[in-house]
Amino acid sequence: MQRAFDKARALGVIEAVVNNAGVLGPVAPIGSIAADDFDRHFRTNVLGVLIGIQLALRSREAGRPLRVVNVSSGASTRAFSGWAAYCSSKAAVNMLTQVAAREHDDGETSVIAVAPGIIETAMQRAIRGTDRAHFADVDRFVELKNTGQLLHPADAAVALAWLVLAAPRSLSGKLVDARDDEVQAAVAQWSRGREQGWAKARAWFDELEPLG
Ligand SMILES: NC(=O)c1ccc[n+]([C@@H]2O[C@H](COP(=O)([O-])OP(=O)(O)OC[C@H]3O[C@@H](n4cnc5c(N)ncnc54)[C@H](OP(=O)(O)O)[C@@H]3O)[C@@H](O)[C@H]2O)c1
Repeated sequence: MQRAFDKARALGVIEAVVNNAGVLGPVAPIGSIAADDFDRHFRTNVLGVLIGIQLALRSREAGRPLRVVNVSSGASTRAFSGWAAYCSSKAAVNMLTQVAAREHDDGETSVIAVAPGIIETAMQRAIRGTDRAHFADVDRFVELKNTGQLLHPADAAVALAWLVLAAPRSLSGKLVDARDDEVQAAVAQWSRGREQGWAKARAWFDELEPLG
């Protein structure tokens, strides 16, 4: 991560950081989760976000704004059987966001968590492939896919871009749900006129990783 920040700094001033990397597994009942798997999960989903926030703060330029967006999940506030690691690590991301926002309430810094919605990525494909014995809600996620209710990654990226570039600083410390009507309206208004850019992003993504 340090190398990535060094490279970014060489390109210019860092004013925004998105902590997006995350894993879902282990998916298993609490009684059978291996401690090492839980630890590995937390190293990515929580320690990764902590280090991302720290590097953002250290790499920032004095007097310039800094926005950190931490990708959380609806599962951070809603329990799913089998997702003890994921639900609790994303809840920890929300709290890291709150604490960082409180510690840096300086008029320049904002730290926001986002539940981005249900997006058709490799993670969703993995969810649909989960053993029903370990994850009781698997049929619901298969149904969402079959009824066309999953977001395209490029559409989820529009909401992230709004959060990074345009969302009010009053959201600092909050968990923003991209599915909220108010948020969707703000994103739609902001992205008006930028449709061509998003269409390009969508085409680029489809070429990179055709959705199954
Ligand atoms: N998809 C959804 O419906 C959904 C819903 C709510 C929240 N989210 C959140 O959105 C974020 C992105 O998820 P996704 O759906 O795009 O999942 P994904 O398809 O599984 O992609 C996960 C990404 O995280 C990276 N990553 C995982 N472990 C890493 C590590 N230890 N170090 C560096 N990078 C690592 C992966 O990099 P590599 O490809 O190099 O492994 C990949 O780019 C996650 O935080 C996830 O929890 C997703």
